[in-house]
Amino acid sequence: MEKKYQIYAREYRPKTFEEMVGQKAVVQTLQNAIRSKRIGQAYLFAGMRGVGKTTAARILAKGLNCLNGGPTPSPCNECDSCKEINEDHSIDVLEIDGASNRGIDDVKTLRESVKYKPIRSRYKVVIIDEVHMLTREAFNALLKTLEEPPPGTVFIFATTELHKVPATILSRCQVFEFKKVSPRDIVGRLKQIAGEKSLTISAGGLALIAEASEGSLRDAVSLLDQAVAFCGETIGDTELKELLGTVNKDLLFEFSTAVLEEKPERIFSLTATVLETGYDLRLFMKEIIQHFRNILVVKSVPAPGDLIVLASPEELARLRAEAGKAGEEDLIRCLQALQAAEPGLKFSPHPQIHFETTLVKICHYRKIAALKDLILEIEEPQKGGGAVSESRPAKPAWTPAVSRKAEPPAGLGEGFRTRNANPPAGSAEARPGAKAPSAPDGPRPGRGENPASKSEEKAALEEPGVKSFLDKFKARIISVDELKAKADSEEE
Ligand SMILES: Nc1ncnc2c1ncn2[C@@H]1O[C@H](COP(=O)(O)OP(=O)(O)OP(=O)(O)O)[C@@H](O)[C@H]1O
Ligand SMILES: [Mg+2]
Ligand SMILES: [Zn+2]
Repeated sequence: MEKKYQIYAREYRPKTFEEMVGQKAVVQTLQNAIRSKRIGQAYLFAGMRGVGKTTAARILAKGLNCLNGGPTPSPCNECDSCKEINEDHSIDVLEIDGASNRGIDDVKTLRESVKYKPIRSRYKVVIIDEVHMLTREAFNALLKTLEEPPPGTVFIFATTELHKVPATILSRCQVFEFKKVSPRDIVGRLKQIAGEKSLTISAGGLALIAEASEGSLRDAVSLLDQAVAFCGETIGDTELKELLGTVNKDLLFEFSTAVLEEKPERIFSLTATVLETGYDLRLFMKEIIQHFRNILVVKSVPAPGDLIVLASPEELARLRAEAGKAGEEDLIRCLQALQAAEPGLKFSPHPQIHFETTLVKICHYRKIAALKDLILEIEEPQKGGGAVSESRPAKPAWTPAVSRKAEPPAGLGEGFRTRNANPPAGSAEARPGAKAPSAPDGPRPGRGENPASKSEEKAALEEPGVKSFLDKFKARIISVDELKAKADSEEE
């Protein structure tokens, strides 16, 4: 008889805990529990799609019921019980899809069936997949069952959305969190499958699949399957890229260059190219975020190694060149802005405009940031960022003794002095009879009545803190002027 073709994801479902990839903590804990005969009544397996939840649930069911020395952490896969579970027709292991059996009646039927002892096995195992999909009534009914669990029954719930499972259920389960599978582990598993199936695929190709699967081993294995269907047993990098629709790296670099060289005008045509090429803007945004993250990594880590998946030496060199165009802080700011904009893209009625404005905005980021700092320093010199704050003494050194209350530092001189501060003798404000501001009942220390002589003011200006603030302030003024000039020249 000809062997039936099985999709890889099914064919390569691990049959033992040892075969499972990348879920070490979960596997160890489950195996230890079986070994020490501390079998729980209810388990909840949580984690993203395709990371081994259903697989682990079945291995646990086999381990509990294995006829070769079970309960055992290493089911034999040869006895009748193991075989039946592997072939999906064990009468004592029920697998229920919570998404399509989500009502109260479904749970009631389930409760009926767990009332009876397991027929042939030691344990009746009830696996409810996507348990978060149950209705509220169904959850309540389930809760009753969990409160008085029928002896010999083990519940295993699985969910991709832990936060949607009510706390009342959670508190009655042992919760296991399944991790995303790392690119390295995915590549390892793919290599093994490729070896067994005599496929030819480059290391770069495997890494491409790993990257596209975003931590889901099922997705990775299915992609390999699709690649074979598409290319045959020799899988070329170019065909693979075509299949995966991998974003063109050049385009990503064009975006980062536009941002880091502050060329907002380029964003519009680049966005048009993205759309013409048929990329989904939301997915493209994810790629841009990943790209900026990679730039930040090469900026911060001298030898990034595995931190950047699938980077050829040329790509690393290009990333370094991009990283050289901005400071670490600028890159962090870009990443924050991109991430903040990402969820909005999903709901925006004008995704293209949302995308464009986000990127144009970050092109202007450094300018805006410089202005912001400047404004901050004028308003709140003590809190302003940069050099002043780095060497900030406990009390701001620049605050001249003569004018503790003054808002702009008195040291800023004539141009910044408030109207009634230290009026020169003979001026309108110093006229006899002119009211002292806000001092109805007697003299009170205030800036209007705190005469400072010219020499005092001069001394204040010479205080080191004041001087450094002034220098910084002057430098900022120049840079704003430059900005203005630049903007003017760009307009022309
Ligand atoms: N940790 C793993 N080790 C080895 N193979 C895995 C692992 N996780 C997933 N796979 C592969 O993916 C397939 C599906 O895995 P499984 O059904 O256990 O995922 P799941 O976590 O239950 O996903 P879903 O949330 O979509 O139900 C398996 O048959 C196997 O080929
Ligand atoms: Mg599953
Ligand atoms: Zn067995």
